[in-house]
Amino acid sequence: MLVLGIESSCDETAAAIVTSDGVVRSDVVHSQAIHAEHGGVVPELASRDHVRNVAPVVREALARAGVSIVDVDAVAVTNRPGLVGALLVGVQTAKGIAWGAGKPLIGVDHLIGHLVAVFLKRGDSPREVPAYPFVSLLVSGGNTALYRVDAPRADAIREIGATRDDAAGEAFDKVAKLLGLGYPGGPVIDRLARQGDASRVPPLSLPMMKARDSRDFSFSGIKTQIAQRVAAGAVTSDRDRADLCAAFQTAVTSVLAKRLIEAAIAENVRDVVLGGGVAANSELRRRVAELAEARGLRAFVPELASCTDNAAMIAYAGALEAPGDRAASGYDLTATSATSLVRTTRKGRGPR
Ligand code: KG4
Repeated sequence: MLVLGIESSCDETAAAIVTSDGVVRSDVVHSQAIHAEHGGVVPELASRDHVRNVAPVVREALARAGVSIVDVDAVAVTNRPGLVGALLVGVQTAKGIAWGAGKPLIGVDHLIGHLVAVFLKRGDSPREVPAYPFVSLLVSGGNTALYRVDAPRADAIREIGATRDDAAGEAFDKVAKLLGLGYPGGPVIDRLARQGDASRVPPLSLPMMKARDSRDFSFSGIKTQIAQRVAAGAVTSDRDRADLCAAFQTAVTSVLAKRLIEAAIAENVRDVVLGGGVAANSELRRRVAELAEARGLRAFVPELASCTDNAAMIAYAGALEAPGDRAASGYDLTATSATSLVRTTRKGRGPR
């Protein structure tokens, strides 16, 4: 079975053709450059750019896979969570294609897409995949949460911890903005941190690190500490900037890696998975691999193209739903900012 996936939840316009076995036949991602000068995603600009690019991106995905819409068995589209105006572009496009070509339409939760992205098969090299149940750390510009995944369905996925304020990627982006490093901040901080030395700056306090039994995160405090240091004139050279990047990255990645491994042990599972754009971070990958090995766990980090926003994971999540009528969404499918996954953590104190 072949599924066309469409993704437009934030600042990537993407389309992909994927088989029900997770083989990626094509994967086209248009990343919106228009947000760079604003230091973050501007929702209205995102929607307009999706409108401009969605049709060419879908055509390109079909062309690269060497198929036409007639060959496709279903159309899967991200309909939640995300920026509603941005989501609507993908949802309406998918409805039009599905209706015009007479194919089933499947609404997909973006977070479930990220959680199954580890099963995508790209290129020829065989990849080991995790066994259910596993614990996944989803860490991106919009989300930072830990999930126990028993099966690839909303009712078999449980949030076991999440950020109480900013997402980790958001913290990378905001810190980069404070240091004048542009947007997105993650890749540039990752690169500068390798040249810096965290021990040359006064230690940053680790977000939520002292809350021993908690599975939650908090990243707004560390961002404030950096803002205060910048305001106090502590960053006057490239070397200062690199050292602060190293200290920031070490603080954030150590709490993320530690929580993931602790959660896996508490849940009595053997496999841990990283997902989301921040999973590209070299220090996070290294820390998770090291801690997992030390505790006898298996760590799985998908290829970069599967970590960042893409439509292949949406097509695959749709393919897992596709057999039978249960999956087909009606043409009344709506875009919504909320995930279908039950949230246990809320921003601020206490459980939801
Ligand atoms: O999943 P993703 O592509 O989409 C959004 O959630 O928007 O993640 C993008 C996020 C951005 O915040 C970006 O700064 C971060 O992932 N990111 C990284 C790295 N590469 C991308 N963060 C840390 N280190 C990286 N190497």
